[in-house]
Amino acid sequence: MRTSEIAKRFLDYFEQHDHLVVPSASLISPNPTTLFTIAGMVPFIPYLMGEQTPPKHRMASNQKCVRTLDIDEVGKTTRHGTFFQMLGNFSFGDYFKEEAIHYAYELLTTPQDKGGYGFDPEKLWMTTFTDDEEARSMWKNEGVDPEHIQIMGMEDNFWTTGGPGPGGPCSEIYVDRGPKYGVEGGPIADENRYIEIWDLVFENYEVDNVKSKTDLHIVGELENKNIDTGAGLERLAYLMQGKQNIYETDEVFPVIEAAQKLSGRTYGDDEAMDVRFRIVADHVRSALMIMSDGVRPSNNGRGYVLRRLLRRTVKAMRELGVTEPVMPTLLPTSKAAMEPSYPELNDTFHDVSEAAYGEEDAFRRTLESGTEIFDMAVTKAKQGGSDLVSGEDAFKLHDTYGFPIEITLEMAADQGVKVDEAKFRELMAEQKSRARADALKKRHNVDLSVYDDFKKTLLQPIDFLGYTDMSARAKVLGIMQEGKGSVPAVTGPANIEVILDRTPFYGNSGGQVGDIGMIESANERIPVVATEKENGLIIHIVTQLPENPEATFMAVVDPEKRQAAANNHTATHLMHEALRKV
Ligand code: GLY
Repeated sequence: MRTSEIAKRFLDYFEQHDHLVVPSASLISPNPTTLFTIAGMVPFIPYLMGEQTPPKHRMASNQKCVRTLDIDEVGKTTRHGTFFQMLGNFSFGDYFKEEAIHYAYELLTTPQDKGGYGFDPEKLWMTTFTDDEEARSMWKNEGVDPEHIQIMGMEDNFWTTGGPGPGGPCSEIYVDRGPKYGVEGGPIADENRYIEIWDLVFENYEVDNVKSKTDLHIVGELENKNIDTGAGLERLAYLMQGKQNIYETDEVFPVIEAAQKLSGRTYGDDEAMDVRFRIVADHVRSALMIMSDGVRPSNNGRGYVLRRLLRRTVKAMRELGVTEPVMPTLLPTSKAAMEPSYPELNDTFHDVSEAAYGEEDAFRRTLESGTEIFDMAVTKAKQGGSDLVSGEDAFKLHDTYGFPIEITLEMAADQGVKVDEAKFRELMAEQKSRARADALKKRHNVDLSVYDDFKKTLLQPIDFLGYTDMSARAKVLGIMQEGKGSVPAVTGPANIEVILDRTPFYGNSGGQVGDIGMIESANERIPVVATEKENGLIIHIVTQLPENPEATFMAVVDPEKRQAAANNHTATHLMHEALRKV
């Protein structure tokens, strides 16, 4: 059964049981504590917490998720993917344990020709939370063999998002893959043979202070007893398609096939190479889905996660022997495989692919120059009778050749040498404080910590609109004077700094000069003489205080100055390209 059909059957089943089916929310998490949507329940947190009224008290979705915490496990196990889809049914104070258990069991065991998944009840195993006698007797009532119902503790059977919010005991459903895959004895004996496919969370607590799975604080009971379930679509797919792992399913394997053609190697011939094939298949799909939700490669936050995925793909393909560009083949292959479930991928693919190909080109250049320097550093270490690449060399690779430290570490591991990481970090810290000191000098000894403190008070990041807009409506969030904090008392001519909630003004950074322009309200016009960028804040430098900071302003960029900056920026890129060729 195709992955898209498995998802459809889930949503159809819950729709028939009076659930409102909603489309997947964006991968960009609405929850400020995580970069990406990490579980099907994330978009529903306000309903689970009782903070908002849901459109219906029973809902269901197939949610796109990204988790990169286990990125090093990708390709090595059967079940770790950085992108995955989570099927979920939710009850916000409507049904509770008994129905959740019944629905899951019915859908899993109903024969495929009757619209279900057709799992053999003999192959299903359940785990329940320590003292949850109730759940155990409910499973028995469904007809589950009592020997197949096991008990697990906080570590496995108490679910939270990993941060403050809803949580609760859960019951997990496993499928036995058979004696070929490990020892008998159910999930408590072997989680490789017995694969977890569905987690039913009885979410009736609020938690905070979550330090680990077993160290958290239960604030109290939520107003509602909720149900939040998560079924792993990729895991269901690989089991139902008779495959060995999530990378061999219909939505992922085409990328492995394309990588086989590019490399001339055969998947299945050599375990070390197979791991690389699987990394490529996983990462290309994750990058596609993340970019389609609007993220672009950068050096921080989501953009950095994306950059790492793209770079790891290029590196794994090199290890498979391919030094030519790979993205122009692999990305459209992944798109074609995902399109049955996400037809909207087509709408953005032109921009997404341009950005991905550009990132690959840049990284290939970095790799070419950096690999040579890296090899020299290894030879130098070995000649000195050491298996340690010096922190100075690792720093030079990073600082001069833009070679990311993760790549240095991975390449060192591949060659059986180590890197003096402590020294590298020390040199990085020194460089950072040098850069801060320089910035301080340049900006008249501004105390930059004021901006850091200000940033901590913001509820959301500043919205930069300058790639698409030259003017925007905005509110003043803060006024400072050269980093000296809030300044209602500033009077004379001075560099006054205005921070807006949203702005089309480009802040001086990355070698491009900041914008100038005007901030206007119904009653006043304040010229912006420069725009700086500091720790994610966009700082409009003005020479007069707004009379009424509460007003709504229009922030208007000077188009001539911007055009000149754009021309220079383009010319700089042309110059770089010419220099590279020379
Ligand atoms: N919220 C249930 C799960 O992610 O497993």
